[in-house]
Amino acid sequence: MSLTKEIQKRRTFAIIAHPDAGKTTLTEKLLLFGGAIKTAGAVKSNKIDTATKSDWMEIEKQRGISVATSVMGFEYKEIKINLLDTPGHQDFAEDTYRTLTAVDSVIMVIDCVKGVEIQTEKLMEVCRMRNTPVICFINKLDREGRDPYDLLDEVEEKLNIKVRPLSWPIGMGKSFKGVYNLYDKKLNLYTPSQRQLSDDRLEIKDLEDSKLVDKIGPNYAEQLREDVELIEGVYPDFDPKEYLEGKVAPVFFGSAVNNFGVNEMLDTFIKIAPGPKSRNTEDREVVPDEKNFSGFVFKIHANMDPNHRNRIAFLRICSGKFERNKPYNQVRGTKPLRFSNVTSFMAQDKEIVDEAFPGDIVGLYDTGNLKIGDTLTDGENMTFKGIPSFSPEIFREVINKDAMKTKQMEKGLKQLMEEGVAQLFTFEMGSRKVIGTVGQLQFEVIQFRLKNEYNATVEFSPMNLYKACWISSTDKKALDEFVRSKNRHIARDKEGKLVFMAESKSWLQMVQDNYPDIEFHFTSEF
Ligand code: G4P
Repeated sequence: MSLTKEIQKRRTFAIIAHPDAGKTTLTEKLLLFGGAIKTAGAVKSNKIDTATKSDWMEIEKQRGISVATSVMGFEYKEIKINLLDTPGHQDFAEDTYRTLTAVDSVIMVIDCVKGVEIQTEKLMEVCRMRNTPVICFINKLDREGRDPYDLLDEVEEKLNIKVRPLSWPIGMGKSFKGVYNLYDKKLNLYTPSQRQLSDDRLEIKDLEDSKLVDKIGPNYAEQLREDVELIEGVYPDFDPKEYLEGKVAPVFFGSAVNNFGVNEMLDTFIKIAPGPKSRNTEDREVVPDEKNFSGFVFKIHANMDPNHRNRIAFLRICSGKFERNKPYNQVRGTKPLRFSNVTSFMAQDKEIVDEAFPGDIVGLYDTGNLKIGDTLTDGENMTFKGIPSFSPEIFREVINKDAMKTKQMEKGLKQLMEEGVAQLFTFEMGSRKVIGTVGQLQFEVIQFRLKNEYNATVEFSPMNLYKACWISSTDKKALDEFVRSKNRHIARDKEGKLVFMAESKSWLQMVQDNYPDIEFHFTSEF
């Protein structure tokens, strides 16, 4: 098959949701429809249950399991779908942010009872940074949820994106009858079933058709006519181009656990969702059907066994064909790298692959050469943009408890940061090392792994910090002056970039007002 055909066949996306909205359930149903799994219950939730919340070893074990489900590939109606899993635990939000850099679109699941929740808002902010196209699936319609109009308004307001319903629910909860698909004018009647995968949809082009009343009764038929009239009046026609630009999110209603509305969405998804998109490097745009291979590493999963310090690096292929055992240019490095152990992820099986194409994700076994954000190419020296670090939320100072092991500690910290476990900031004055994370859990992870894998002993001391802001200015003198006058609060990130460590929100605001020539950024890429 030609490269262009391979590219056209692929759709790479992630499901995002606040925990409990139904991401795992929807994933499983998609795999069932794709024929990739045969029975329900095969997909393990990567959610951390409350009993093990503080037991991070247990969590790491579960994360180990979730490596297998990090990428789930399957074919549906001749389209190769790569579904990327995102961690369920919010302490690993940074992992999710990075995963979102490797997809071309997103399906967002919202619980119709709870509406838009905080984690969804945060994830959506990341999607908006790259104008990622979003399809919204409003789930759990078998429960008494909120009014659908209110839910749509809430999505628009809280997530700052226009919506366009492509299906509309008839009743809800106990009286849920089904959905009417506004896009292909079909009525999908609800029969609760956790197993059934049938797709009986009745075409009803004209809502005055007597078949409608026969199926749902006069009252619901009347309500549906009113709703459809209102929707068609309020919302402009669905424009796929606007969706592809990330400006409007088509909305579907359903019940994942009951297999309802899922294949309807999947059918629309394969029609409208983008294939592998072009990506920007620092110098130029790379289009997928360029002959030469390029890709970037967006995730690294370490092996927890100290005797085998190997890791799996997840590579998103951006252009050309990737081949096993071929030497590739690691742009940051000095010598070419060759990978013999390359896995692809089909459903839940890992298998060695010889080649992969744009949109695909492959796992590379690596002994410590690769780090997050690395670009691999056929030869060209270019670096993909769009894998930023985000300002962490919790900060602690690293205290080295064993001066004899300083070297080991530094090496361990460096490697863990390359894996993206957390972020390290080193203060300009006194070289104090501060770790920033989005969750408490990472501190336990770091402490344990430094001891276990590097034989270094550290403790953490809390720090009263609000944000790490990357700083820049077009006026070099102003920047130098700022760094001089605020030197107690200036640190460097792992790339050596200047960072202002703000102690409180109000103080940061004051500093921003007092130094209008300095730009403060909340992500490392600006
Ligand atoms: P997550 O990955 O987003 O965290 O959510 P997950 O799929 O694990 O779903 C969370 C809970 O919501 C599960 O119930 C699941 O069965 C339920 N759920 C998913 N879709 C629907 C739906 O359409 N309707 C209803 N009523 N419930 C739904 P649980 O009790 O936590 O687990 P389980 O024992 O049922 O598996």
